[in-house]
Amino acid sequence: MKNRSLLFLLALLHLSVTLQSQYNRDISIDSLLKMMNTEEKVGQMSQVDLGVVAVGDICNLKNPQALDIDKLKLAIAKYKVGSILNVGCGSGTIAMDNWRQIIDAIQNTNNQFSRLKIPVLYGIDAIHGANYTMGATLFPQEIGQAATWNPQLVEQANAISAYETRASAIPWNFSPVLDLGRQPLWSRFFETYGEDVFLAKTMAKSAVNGLQGSNTDNPYKVSACMKHFLGYSFPLSGKDRTPAWISDRELREYFVPTFQQAINAGAKTVMINSGDINGTPVHANYDILTGLLRHELGFTGVAVTDWEDIYKLVSVHHVATDKKEAVKMAIMAGIDMSMTPNDFQFNELLLELVNEGGVPLSRIDEAVTRILKLKKDLGLFNQPFYPLSMYPKFGSLEFSDVSYKAACESVTLLKNKDGLLPLENKEEKIFVCGPAANSLNLLNGAWTHTWQGVDATYNTKNKKTILESLISNYSKKGVSYSLGASLDSLGDMNVIISEAKSSDKIIICLGEKPCTEIPGNIDELELSDAQKQLVLALATLKKPIILVCCFNRPRIIHDIVEKVDAILYGYLPGDEGGRAIADCIVGKVNPSGRLPFTYPMASNAIVHYDHKASEDQDIDFSQNAYRPEFDFGFGLSYTQFQYSSFKFSDTILNNTDSIVLNFSITNSGSKNGMEVAQLYYKDMVASITPSVKKLTNFQKIALNPGETKELRFIMHKEDFSFIDKNLKRITEPGAIEIQLSNQKKVIYVR
Ligand code: BGC
Repeated sequence: MKNRSLLFLLALLHLSVTLQSQYNRDISIDSLLKMMNTEEKVGQMSQVDLGVVAVGDICNLKNPQALDIDKLKLAIAKYKVGSILNVGCGSGTIAMDNWRQIIDAIQNTNNQFSRLKIPVLYGIDAIHGANYTMGATLFPQEIGQAATWNPQLVEQANAISAYETRASAIPWNFSPVLDLGRQPLWSRFFETYGEDVFLAKTMAKSAVNGLQGSNTDNPYKVSACMKHFLGYSFPLSGKDRTPAWISDRELREYFVPTFQQAINAGAKTVMINSGDINGTPVHANYDILTGLLRHELGFTGVAVTDWEDIYKLVSVHHVATDKKEAVKMAIMAGIDMSMTPNDFQFNELLLELVNEGGVPLSRIDEAVTRILKLKKDLGLFNQPFYPLSMYPKFGSLEFSDVSYKAACESVTLLKNKDGLLPLENKEEKIFVCGPAANSLNLLNGAWTHTWQGVDATYNTKNKKTILESLISNYSKKGVSYSLGASLDSLGDMNVIISEAKSSDKIIICLGEKPCTEIPGNIDELELSDAQKQLVLALATLKKPIILVCCFNRPRIIHDIVEKVDAILYGYLPGDEGGRAIADCIVGKVNPSGRLPFTYPMASNAIVHYDHKASEDQDIDFSQNAYRPEFDFGFGLSYTQFQYSSFKFSDTILNNTDSIVLNFSITNSGSKNGMEVAQLYYKDMVASITPSVKKLTNFQKIALNPGETKELRFIMHKEDFSFIDKNLKRITEPGAIEIQLSNQKKVIYVR
């Protein structure tokens, strides 16, 4: 009975949305703004979690999730809320039909109970695919996407993510993370495109293009949200949301370019860093949120807070005495929308502030204009969402093939002693073990069906783990399996050793508990003892060992690298990762990933590849102190590539000129493969200590055995620029050493 009346109500409301959406369609933003009262404006600036308007406790919703119409009416009629997000604190995944009913009911209730019927904007974290919609395509996490060094593939993955998010009736995605991964302890390292500015900004552009496309009001595109502006990824302690100490110059040199690139690509929204830089919480920092973001970088879109961060100016950062002062600080610093997210205090406090003159109406109008423009650009005034029949490819094979390709291209071969891999003899017996061998969750990581990604309830059906994929390549009898060790506790080694004894090869799959944000904080990068002991124990058998690592961040493996014969680094490869890793092991796929970060050898040896020359000084005063486990950009192949025919068009680079470097790459081995040509440079002398090496361009190409391709890199003066002590980007005249493969040549900037 209850259900029936709800259906009737929905039908009535549906009629109203059809009529009412016509009403506001052609109104200009200016006219709409003029019609709005202050309460309505403040409402537009607020965003609450689904938990506030759904049945159940805020962070523990009824399952399947359902709206509580009374709560929703309160949010819309009384508080005039402009935006809703998430799935009840990330507590569970929602079926596509359910999403569509939820969004439909929100828009209909809004049309019935709000005066101006401005559509409500729903936002979600679709971090590696539409990860909160059941059955969506899940891709490698950003760090794995960066490891592909294939920007077109990253754009394709993001376009699919947009398609499936929009199919779920959601037009706003809190992605991509554009924080640079230069602090490997940080729990969100896997959400970054790695440590390098050029690689990450290239991927930033691809991600924004894939998510947003070039047209507004496109039913297959969403608004991107670059996050988390700025310096979030570089906390000194490595712990999430703790202080960063970053000078204005370093901010602009390392942390701004990804955002600048995304802004240039048209990114419509930005989310703010929950932490503080140099003692000022970013949510209260006018210089960063308005001076830098708006005036210097030219961003014109919407700035949304992160989770409850205005209140945290009081409760965590202690820079405001009460929530009202915090609201004033954040809004005056440049926040347009508050992810409140669990109550309506923000609305009440901001209204009071405006009425008392504490926040000028002009600041409110500025923020609301941006929000209305975003809603217009997304086409929400025309049609808040589109019929399901427009999304036949949701969860399709076509889409999972792209995810598989991305996973394959991310897998990075770090060691291959005596060409152990690929294992081509299917008659051999293999023994598989380790916590990541038979777990989909450990391949996907956090932001997978739930916030922390540990709950297997919603895992996509028919996706294979590494073990299951290996079994489909061998006969069932050829593969034996035992867990061996969980993430942090070792099994009975006598049993494991006796099980492994009769095998020809051993495959050990190590992992890390899915986690992100504060729950992902760790005290050291060292791999868990249990996992190390598992490898050391099996190594006593003296059989060939293949190590597979699927970590959230580079856990230290120094003690076991020499004990194994081959290492495949899988990052967090997503739902197709099991298949991709198994196919790399058996040689159906030739791994072509390259590390998007420097793999440290020891927990405290965090030195990036683009370090300064002083960081090369060893204790014996030689220049050999930089000793990573594996270098940035490193990755082996089952074939070999030869570089030849280097030809520079010139050695002098003037203001308007470019230098063209032509060269060839040959696949001189016997297997198909992909190579990443990486162009580095070294500024020989500069007014700011130059890096020993910096990436300035790259290209990934596929080559058949014996095939040669000619490539070219075009260099401009800006490619060798840096931020000077006056915070200006300049290129100084002088010598620049160009490095490609093992070739070096000096050119001169005039
Ligand atoms: C995270 C953001 C995320 C937001 C909404 C926060 O805790 O830091 O990255 O977009 O929650 O779920």
